[in-house]
Formats: sequence, structure tokens, C-alpha cells
Amino acid sequence: GAASCNQRHKSTYTPPPARYGGRHTVTLIPGDGIGPELANHVRELFRFCCVPVDFEVANVDSSLASEDDINNAIMAIRRNGVALKGNIETNHNLPPSYKSRNNLLRTTLDLYANVMHCQSLPGVRTRHKNIDILIIRENTEGEYSSLEHENVPGVVECLKIITRPKSLRIADYAFRTARERGRRRVTAVHKANIMKLADGLFLECCKEVASGYPEIAFDSMIVDNTTMQLVSRPQQFDVMVMPNLYGNVVSNVCAGLVGGPGLVPGANYGEDYALFETGTRNTGKSIANRNIANPTAMLLASCLLLDHLKLHAYASMIRRAIISTVTEARLHTADLGGQGSTSEVVQSIMKAIQSTGPMTLSI
Ligand SMILES: *[C@@H]1O[C@H](CO)[C@@H](O)[C@H](O)[C@H]1NC(C)=O
Repeated sequence: GAASCNQRHKSTYTPPPARYGGRHTVTLIPGDGIGPELANHVRELFRFCCVPVDFEVANVDSSLASEDDINNAIMAIRRNGVALKGNIETNHNLPPSYKSRNNLLRTTLDLYANVMHCQSLPGVRTRHKNIDILIIRENTEGEYSSLEHENVPGVVECLKIITRPKSLRIADYAFRTARERGRRRVTAVHKANIMKLADGLFLECCKEVASGYPEIAFDSMIVDNTTMQLVSRPQQFDVMVMPNLYGNVVSNVCAGLVGGPGLVPGANYGEDYALFETGTRNTGKSIANRNIANPTAMLLASCLLLDHLKLHAYASMIRRAIISTVTEARLHTADLGGQGSTSEVVQSIMKAIQSTGPMTLSI
């Protein structure tokens, strides 16, 4: 029941201690598309701020059938405990045996909780204001089991796996996070009217865990209504928890609501490892190497990484500068309707940090 679940997943995890003279080593997977240039901006910014983090670069060539690259990257993350990554492209024309490298990372390292915080940013024009939604997505099972087969020609079966332990685990993560962050309500998103067994189980697990958190309200919403409610009145949502595919769809809707893929960072947590990336998992191939990508999402992801390493002073210093820069319309990149370049945004962030003074750091 909920009690035993709480017991089992008591948060005992602490990030790896600083090593090598008080510095952390973090795995950096540049990825494809705009990934490498954004990774360079993160390094530039960290160097500028004297952040005590060294990156160990693990390149993953998405065009190779061999899984050597991704296995090396996984080994590096096992060593360092923490990673920052750009999205790795998955070519849909490759045979079904080719597994998405992004998905391999999450499942192999059991990064079961994908967390995306969608918050309205000052200075970014959007249809809706005052959005503050925390999306918790199960990241390892559901529709992403990679179990598909065509035993009879023209009939494909694709297995969606929902298990009690993993549903309890993500539900507990959601409620624990809600409690830690002083949130008041958790909404489980499902389609239990159709998938009575699978989503029914997910919902039941959420209800069970909810009973252990009496101070947090719990409700549920069918996924189709959820998307409609999100685009008409998104302010009604607080924390949302859901299985893998709904999480993918809902988090993209939410990212769109607060200004798009260039703005929202994402985090993947497991018991042992953590991986940070942009919230929506696109590569931005069409705008790569043109100095026009919005670096905000990736830079904010690097702040989540710093928070994870308990380098909170650095994280908030950089985050403050990012937010103040994104507030200035003249610096907006093309995705926000402006003409600013990636490097202008990064320069302005560094200027904002300099004007408040990195010396104000008290660590
Ligand atoms: C959709 O959600 C809204 C808001 O919670 C609720 O009032 C409404 O009854 C729901 N509609 C359906 C069809 O479930």
C-alpha cells in the first residue's frame, strides 16, 4: 500500500560529492542539431561564472548502428552520476531494432521521473498568463516499451506496459515533489475509460499514494479533456502526474503555452543518476549552426543541474540573469518573434551577471 511505498522510496539519494579538488565532473552529451552549439554556450557561461564543474564530453553519433557510443556515454554517466545532454536524433527509417538513443539512456539508467516545470515568463508574450504547472511523467515504461511485432502481415501489436511498482514509484515521486515544493494539488492524467486495466492500474496506484499525503489534494482527468482544459484554462493545473506518452504530449502542449521549446528545461531523475536537457526533446536541426536558436531552455537546464549538485548560489545567479535577459524583447530570438542571435542572448546574460557581480556569491 501507500505506506510501504513511501517507505521503499524514501528519498535517500544525494548527489555525488565533489571530487578532484572540490570540482564536480559532469557528463556532457552534445547531441545533434542545435545541441553542440548550446553545449558550448553552457561551457562558456560556466567558465565565465567560475562554476566548479568540469565536463566530460561523450559524443554519440546517431547515424551509427553500433551501440558503442551510447554505451560509453552510459558508462560515463554511471561514473559521474550527472549529465547534461542535447537531444540525439532518431532516424525513423532505420530498422525497428535500432533503439532511440535518448530512450536507451533513460531506461538503462532507470531515470524514471521526467520533470518539467512550465511557468509563464515575464516579457514573453503568450495567449495565457500566470501558468505554473509541474509535470511529472513516468519515463521508463508505458507506450515506450519498444515491444512491437507484426506476427500477421498488416497487423502490428505495440505493447503498452503499466506495472504496479513503477506506477507507485512515479506517483510517490509526484507527491513527494509536491510536498517538497509546497504544492497543493496533484492531478493524474489517464484514459482509464478505454484502457480500463492499464490506465486503471495507474490511476489506482496514484489514489493509493495520495492517501499518504492528506495535505495535498488529488484529482484525475481524462487525457483528452486535459488537453482541452490546458489550452482553454491552464491556470487550473498545479502538479500533474501521468504515464509516458500522455506525459510527452501534455508537456509539449504546456511548453507551447509558455512560449515554446526554446524556453523550458527538463530533468530526468532516478535513484542513482540525473540527466538534464531541454524540456521538449527536439534537435532543432533546421536552425542548427546559424546562431539563431534560443539558448534559454538549455541554459536553464544547466541551472537545474547546478541545483542538483547543490551549487544553489551559482544556479540562482545564472537563472536570475537568464530571466532578466529573456524579459528584454529586443534580445528575443526568432522563435519569440525577435531578431536576436544566440550569442547576443548569452553575452547579455554574462553582462547581467557581471553587473550584479559574481562576487556577491556566498557559498
Ligand atoms: C473536464 O474538466 C473540467 C475541469 O475540471 C470538468 O469540469 C469537466 O466536467 C470535464 N469534462 C469531462 C467531459 O470530463
